[in-house]
Amino acid sequence: MFKQNIEKTIDRNILLNPGPATTSARVKSALIVPDICPREQEFGDLLGVVKNKALQVVSADSRYKAVLIGGSGTAAIEACLSSCTNEKAVLILENGAYGERMKKICDALKIPADVIKANWGDPIDQQALKTHLEQNAQKYHVMAFIHHETTVGILNDLSSLHRLAKQYKLKTLVDAMSSYAGIEIDLSKDDVDYLVSSSNKCIQGMAGLGICIVKEQVLNEISQYPKRSFYLDLSNNYSSQEKNNQFAFTPPVQILYALNEAFDEFFEAGGTTARASRYEELYLQMKSGMLELGFECLVPEHLQAKILTAFRWPESSNFTFEEMHDYLYLKGITIYPGKNAKEKSFRISNIGELNSEDISFFLDNLKSFLQSKRH
Ligand SMILES: Cc1ncc(COP(=O)(O)O)c(C=O)c1O
Repeated sequence: MFKQNIEKTIDRNILLNPGPATTSARVKSALIVPDICPREQEFGDLLGVVKNKALQVVSADSRYKAVLIGGSGTAAIEACLSSCTNEKAVLILENGAYGERMKKICDALKIPADVIKANWGDPIDQQALKTHLEQNAQKYHVMAFIHHETTVGILNDLSSLHRLAKQYKLKTLVDAMSSYAGIEIDLSKDDVDYLVSSSNKCIQGMAGLGICIVKEQVLNEISQYPKRSFYLDLSNNYSSQEKNNQFAFTPPVQILYALNEAFDEFFEAGGTTARASRYEELYLQMKSGMLELGFECLVPEHLQAKILTAFRWPESSNFTFEEMHDYLYLKGITIYPGKNAKEKSFRISNIGELNSEDISFFLDNLKSFLQSKRH
């Protein structure tokens, strides 16, 4: 065997955007593996191992299968939406950009879809939803919604929305992109039909793989439904991965190795409970520092997911978001602009391999920036 020695020292950046998140040195190192053809048995075995770990994160029992999709999180959402209905419509609950995106995906794929909409930043009105379902449920096959709506950091009530959909015999499709592994989800209790996430948010792997966790019975049903996409046909991706032990198309090979390491790191650190409590501590530290600096939260405390916080843009300021961003960026800190919320805002996330010193470093630098603008 030939050997190669690879050593590299790199800067560690503090990403306060809601993913791709800051990753550990351990996960980064896992990217460096011997080149391998993804059709080899060894790689197929890794795929099987990673899928099992993906299921374990959300206590998915033997009713569930995991399907990995090469691409960003949106590819995984699109794979599920494109495959989830025969003729009937999808009912989408929208209170942010990712609910809106689901509708855009359905429109692009010519899937009939209705939207129940709340202001971005407000919770879904469950009474209005119930009234709508009472009169219209027979039109729909699936109800789709976002768990943590990253647009403003609001947590939608997965359990009660899922229960409501089930009262009307609808399938449930949940975008758990930025909650999976960071907020407790228990599929043995809330048995949603499709749960979607990606490799680069709270699981703290690298970007490049979507994770679909779907009931096996549903995967069997949808194999008969019309194909609206070739690459993103969930059924084809599933059967290739399940029966041939291979991705249907060339996967992001090294990303799978890094994801495997990220899962190990996650379980060794105590799983979702431990991660959620670390994130909560970072959130509390960050939020109290931001309030001290004079910023205000956009979303009331009881709706906060504690993963990402939207702050009102201080209208009286004599600087722009870009100036604030660029100042921090030079120090290795990335903050995130707002996204068409009900008010002008900017966002700070607290996911990823971050610690309390990182948050202090961010707050100190933000304070210096604000002071530099006072003169
Ligand atoms: C809730 C939610 N859904 C979907 C997406 C889209 O994921 P991606 O940007 O990986 O396509 C994001 C990205 O931040 C998200 O937060």
